[in-house]
Amino acid sequence: MAIIEIKDLSYTYPGEQEPILKHLTASFPAKEWTTIIGRNGSGKSTLARLIDGLLPIGHGQIMVAGTPVDGEHVDLVHQKIGFVFQNPENQFVGTTVEDDVAFGLENHRVPRDEMRYRIQQALNDVSMAEYAQTEPAMLSGGQKQRVAIAGILCLRPEILIFDEATSMLDPQARQNILGLLRKLKIEKGFTIIAISHDPVEAAAGDNVAILNQGQLVAFDRKEQILANTDLLQKYGLAVPFTEKLKQQLRGQGMQVPKEYMTEEQMVKWLSQQ
Ligand SMILES: Nc1ncnc2c1ncn2[C@@H]1O[C@H](COP(=O)(O)OP(=O)(O)OP(=O)(O)O)[C@@H](O)[C@H]1O
Ligand SMILES: [Mg+2]
Repeated sequence: MAIIEIKDLSYTYPGEQEPILKHLTASFPAKEWTTIIGRNGSGKSTLARLIDGLLPIGHGQIMVAGTPVDGEHVDLVHQKIGFVFQNPENQFVGTTVEDDVAFGLENHRVPRDEMRYRIQQALNDVSMAEYAQTEPAMLSGGQKQRVAIAGILCLRPEILIFDEATSMLDPQARQNILGLLRKLKIEKGFTIIAISHDPVEAAAGDNVAILNQGQLVAFDRKEQILANTDLLQKYGLAVPFTEKLKQQLRGQGMQVPKEYMTEEQMVKWLSQQ
C-alpha cells in the first residue's frame, strides 16, 4: 500500500523560468524505506519539501496517508511527517538534551506526565537516555543526529524524511544511524524516505528512486537498481563498491552472481569461493 502518492507534480521556484520538478508521478510504499538518489541539483530536497508541505505545490497533487498536501491540511501533514535535516547544529534550541527533545512537544499541548514519558521513550529508542542532562554542544555529530531523531519520535509521526542526514558523519557514525533507522522501521513500522548521494546508504533501505533533472527516471527494489551499473553511470551516480569489485572479478574470468550483494554478503560469498 502506498502512503505517499504523487501525481503529475511540477514545481518552479518563484521568479525562476525553469521548472525544478517536471511531471513527477510516484508512489512510496508504507512501512518501507525508499532512498531518493540523484545528482546535485536534481531536485531531491525540493521534492522532500513539497511532500512535507514546506513549499506550495505548483502543479499536480501529493497525498500523504490519505491527506492532500495543501494550505488547508498543512498542520495535519506535519503531524504525519518528521523531517531530519543535514546539519544537526541548526536543529538545537534546548540547553540540555532533554530540553531540546521536549521543545517540539511544548507546542503540542501534551500533558506533563505524557511529555516526560514520551521523552524518556524517545531517548531510549535512539540509545541516548544517559545523555538526558548533557549540553547538546558536548555531543558528537552522530549523537546530535540521534537527539534530533528523538525530538521527532516524540511527536509520533508515521513517516520519517531524512535529507542527507548522515552526510556530515564519519563512516562509523553513519553506519550507526543507518542501523537505528533499520530498527525504527522494523520495530516501530515507520515509513522512511531518505535522500542521499551514498550508495551504501541506499543499500541499507528497501527501494531506490532516481531523480534526474527534475524527473523520476527509476523506482525499484534496491537490488534491481544498485546492481544496474549502466543505469547508475548514466545518471552520474556512484556505483556501489561491491558492484565495482564484481566487474573486476568478471574481467578476470570469474563467474559472479548477477544479483546485488551488500558488503557482508560479498565477503561471505568470496569466502566460499
Ligand atoms: N529557493 C530557491 N530558489 C530558486 N532556486 C532554487 C531554490 N532552492 C533550490 N533551487 C534550485 O533548484 C534546483 C534543485 O535544488 P534541490 O536543492 O532540490 O536539489 P538537490 O537534488 O537536493 O541537490 P543537492 O544534492 O545539492 O542537495 C537547483 O538548481 C537549485 O539551485
Ligand atoms: Mg538537497
